[in-house]
Amino acid sequence: MASASARGAWKSRLGFILAAAGSAIGLGNIWRFPYVVGENGGAAFVLIYLGFVFLIGAPVMISELALGRRTERNPVGAFASLAPGSLWQFVGLLGVITGVGILSFYGVVAGWTVGYFFKTVGGTFNRPMSAEETAAIFSGFVSNWMVACGLLLTFLVLTALIVWRGVSDGIEFMSKILMPILLLLLIVLAARSVTLSGAGPGLRFYLAPDFSKITPQTFPTALGQAFFSLSLGMGAMITYGSYIGKRDNLVSAAGMVCLFDTMIALLAGLIIFPALFHAGLDPASGVGLVFQVLPPLFATLPAGQLFGAAFFLLLTIAALTSTISLLEVPVSYLIDEFKWSRGKAVLVTSLGTLLLGLPSALAFGAVDFFSALPGVGLDFLSLMNIIFGNYSLSLGSLLLAVFVGYRWGVAGAAEEIEQEGVRFGLRPAWAFLIRFLCPVAVAVIIVYIVLTGNYF
Ligand code: TRP
Repeated sequence: MASASARGAWKSRLGFILAAAGSAIGLGNIWRFPYVVGENGGAAFVLIYLGFVFLIGAPVMISELALGRRTERNPVGAFASLAPGSLWQFVGLLGVITGVGILSFYGVVAGWTVGYFFKTVGGTFNRPMSAEETAAIFSGFVSNWMVACGLLLTFLVLTALIVWRGVSDGIEFMSKILMPILLLLLIVLAARSVTLSGAGPGLRFYLAPDFSKITPQTFPTALGQAFFSLSLGMGAMITYGSYIGKRDNLVSAAGMVCLFDTMIALLAGLIIFPALFHAGLDPASGVGLVFQVLPPLFATLPAGQLFGAAFFLLLTIAALTSTISLLEVPVSYLIDEFKWSRGKAVLVTSLGTLLLGLPSALAFGAVDFFSALPGVGLDFLSLMNIIFGNYSLSLGSLLLAVFVGYRWGVAGAAEEIEQEGVRFGLRPAWAFLIRFLCPVAVAVIIVYIVLTGNYF
């Protein structure tokens, strides 16, 4: 496609799937999933999450990809080109803003990952440690403002450099070789963790549902986690879809991405919970959870230091393939709609993200105000995480489902999906989910939260 390749296109079908999977798989699976599962009572939350991924996430992903490929535009342009002169383009704009919002705190946690790589290489975790000690190391590390801000800056610079070179060169290569290695490490770690003494209660917490643990907060959190983990609700998949060829099967690509992403998250839980109960930590330890659980787990493995270093390095790269997709959304918007050069768009958006990210970097002891926001009872990073990572993505997905289901119409979308004779056997199921289940379920959850005021 001439117009697609002028904006940059994937080199191959596999390249696209890898890039989409690379966007989906990241800190959302390995950092965010275990800690929200821990805070929300375990297995019952996991079940609800799985339901949301396949009944709501998968149809939304198919829709985002179809919208992107049809219009070959960034999210704002995509809505504008199918509904010119309407308010729909503000859904795209919400996505552009959300991308910057998510990237701002995601970059902080990605920076911690880089820091833990260096700590592991430096031998910090080479001796046996109590849960108190690993917790103290974590809080000492994140409360150092220079380190936290420096690592955020480093990570944003890395992201910016790759996005500046153009999406396909940067991502396809990294995903192809490195993600399978990460998967392998995760499998080894899971095998180690489930065979630790005292793994039983951890496995029970994670896998045996206790429905009395469900609270009003369970639903928006599980829904937000599903969208966050799959990179949905802000147009990342619209943007990535705009670079796919017409012959590619969007439905099977979406299915594969959802499956892989879920598998990695489930594996991460299988690693974290047995090790967490083994170490006697509290599952509701919040954003620091995996950074406190993993280092002592590495120490129980032969060549644990090497293993741990490899793990944090690969997690850094997994985070990078995700931040690339976050930054690409505002960048492609500025390029397409304002005719900016890629360099200028990258520079301006990353600088803005850096500024917005500083309060999150300072939210763990460096600045008291950001560490416990008055009247909210949360630190700044967690607040950003909930606003952008849960609510904004949920609202964006709701509006997208309404747009595809009613404005563009399922017939138009299905026609795009069935280009070049691709069979879409699940079309009736998809049409039902995108027109009825997705909008109704998401709207009910949002309205319920607003009515009861249980935002956090
Ligand atoms: N899905 C990624 C993760 O799990 C994060 C991410 C990348 C994302 N792009 C996104 C989340 C777009 C929401 C929207 O780590």
